[in-house]
Amino acid sequence: MDKKPKIKEDLTIDSLLRPVGWDDYIGQGKTKQNLKIILEAAKKRQEACDHLLFYGQAGLGKTTLAHLVSRELGGDIKITSGPALEKMADLAAVLTNLGQGDILFIDEAHRLNKTIEEVLYPAMEARKLHLMVGKGPAARMLTLDLPPFTLIAATTRADLLSGPLRSRFGATFKLDYYEPADIEVIIQRSAKLLNLKITSEAVKIIAAASRFTPRVANRLLKRVRDYVEVNAIKEIDAAAAKETMELLEIDNLGLEPHDRRLLEVIVKKFNGGPVGLNTLAAALNDERGNVEEVYEPYLMRLGLIARTSSGRMATKLAYKHLGMDIPEGALL
Ligand code: ADE
Repeated sequence: MDKKPKIKEDLTIDSLLRPVGWDDYIGQGKTKQNLKIILEAAKKRQEACDHLLFYGQAGLGKTTLAHLVSRELGGDIKITSGPALEKMADLAAVLTNLGQGDILFIDEAHRLNKTIEEVLYPAMEARKLHLMVGKGPAARMLTLDLPPFTLIAATTRADLLSGPLRSRFGATFKLDYYEPADIEVIIQRSAKLLNLKITSEAVKIIAAASRFTPRVANRLLKRVRDYVEVNAIKEIDAAAAKETMELLEIDNLGLEPHDRRLLEVIVKKFNGGPVGLNTLAAALNDERGNVEEVYEPYLMRLGLIARTSSGRMATKLAYKHLGMDIPEGALL
């Protein structure tokens, strides 16, 4: 008889792996240190904490930090995003649902539209919600008082936030890529939470492929976990980790096929560059935003490409990684 498999939602794994206290939150030392002071002071004064802006690459823990802040302050967290707040009514519904000391978390804040932004200003500064009710000559401005709350905005592109919005945050924190040693600790911690046996070599292999990013590290660990489960391997070892990375086409630097293709296009099609962003995106048949926000930051962090005033260039390291001869004049 067929047994129905028990499905445990993978999402619950993600929430299981999410740090619940400062001690579990690895890395980002400076941010943690400064945030702790801000929170402690707000609690001492029994005031709502200043509005906070977190920016940095996807997967570096902006949402996780917002959860930690809300836990620390003892309020609820209401989560929304720039694109979800399309109309005034969307924002009004969110704001009027806030309780005292709650956190309003707005992800992808660079995608907030102008009208919504302008309603946010008085909400942030004076805890007032100004609503236009009715139309034409009968239109009236209705003002509602909001409880003390903290807005936490997160974005991958702080440069795209308007100046007036940016200036209304009491503190801004840039989340950086993690140190490989910190990623290793995160993998060890996650493996423990998932009851996995793993060798330190396997941890290193997964960490090296993790793009200095906790979310990627946890995702790869889950894929290796699947691999050993299917192959009835008791302990995650170097061979299992390597084999999984190979199956996923992730190389020893954590590059995926699209990353390697980007390097190859610069090297082969544009002679190593310089090539402009739009031209590069067109040659890759991809979005400019993807190239700029997803692929490039990591390739630059690894030193495989460099940005010059006339465009992107492949470095010597890129040629080396692709197994090609390094031409004269290639960038260091
Ligand atoms: N998961 C996401 N970010 C993390 C961090 N900084 N430490 C531990 N686990 C994480």
